[in-house]
Amino acid sequence: MTDLATTPVDLGRDRKAEHIRLALDARMQLGTSAFDDYRFGHEALPEIDLADVDTSIEFLGRRLAAPLLISCMTGGTEAAGAINRHLAQGAEETRVAIGVGSQRKALEDPDKAETFKVRPVAPTVPLLANLGAVQLNYGMGVRECRQAVEMIGADALVLHLNPLQEALQPEGQCNFAGLLPKIGEVVRGVGVPVIAKEVGSGLSLAAARGLRAQGVRHLDTAGVGGTSWARIEAARSGDLDLGELFAGWGLTTPDSIREIRQVPDVTVIASGGIRNGLDAAKALALGADLVGMAYPFLAPALESPAKVADRVRRFVQELRISMFCLGVKTVAELRHVALRKGT
Ligand code: FNR
Repeated sequence: MTDLATTPVDLGRDRKAEHIRLALDARMQLGTSAFDDYRFGHEALPEIDLADVDTSIEFLGRRLAAPLLISCMTGGTEAAGAINRHLAQGAEETRVAIGVGSQRKALEDPDKAETFKVRPVAPTVPLLANLGAVQLNYGMGVRECRQAVEMIGADALVLHLNPLQEALQPEGQCNFAGLLPKIGEVVRGVGVPVIAKEVGSGLSLAAARGLRAQGVRHLDTAGVGGTSWARIEAARSGDLDLGELFAGWGLTTPDSIREIRQVPDVTVIASGGIRNGLDAAKALALGADLVGMAYPFLAPALESPAKVADRVRRFVQELRISMFCLGVKTVAELRHVALRKGT
């Protein structure tokens, strides 16, 4: 048997493989980052020692070395299982959080569950389960959400909201009516915190308020600026015009952070186009508690856990330099640094 933990991954030919292959293509990235519109000042006299900069935070009751989540991506096939194990091992080695992709297929076919079970290689870091919220209108409920959490020993359940993606899929599930109270039932019954996220079009203030009213206390922007699911789904269906029309649809990640930050008592995860530690520093200064990145980890995950860990270390180095040159020692202080709009 091949040792998938150390061998570069062969993607195979199914639908998951198609998603991953397309997501790896740089043309599926929006290509313009709203973070570039923001600038920090600079402290020529930071009055701290770089060695004293501390990027650690607490998330879901566990200590992270940096405010970073490897965002939910995949599972369900042998190749996706290898990707998940590489991501999880890399996350454990560098002490950052990690999510798996949608577990719907594994709930329908228990043979696929193995490809999501990464707890053995990531025993101490926050591990997130994942389902599409729209599934709550297609036969799934609190029971299935609990099963997804128990399947992998997760610390929290991510429910993703992806109306644009579903609308652009020929086989999309587009009945998003009446989801909020069903999300509330999950919050009350699933036994772990629920994290609500988009997948690349951002969460608005209205969405955040609605979710908070249902008891959701963790929100992930997944805003516009990085992976464009409009482009990916359009490439799959062959309707490139439709994909391009909606490629930049939604709230940019900085705008989404600023909107959902207004809702009291929520942990804000900023994702969507975060590509380095400087973007992350800006997201944190705008009010996020931690950041998530998906695409930047996809290519490393095809290689090895060591490549994933290298990518995390690079991110931490970039964040540390940003903090040093702003004269702040902790993430809590960074969240109060002023950020200027305009280049
Ligand atoms: C994703 N994303 C995603 N999100 C989710 O909640 N469940 C999922 O199953 C997936 N699947 C998935 C596959 C691949 C290949 C990618 C690249 C992304 C969305 C992801 O978690 C994130 O929200 C967006 O990709 C935005 O972040 P980036 O890629 O711009 O850093």
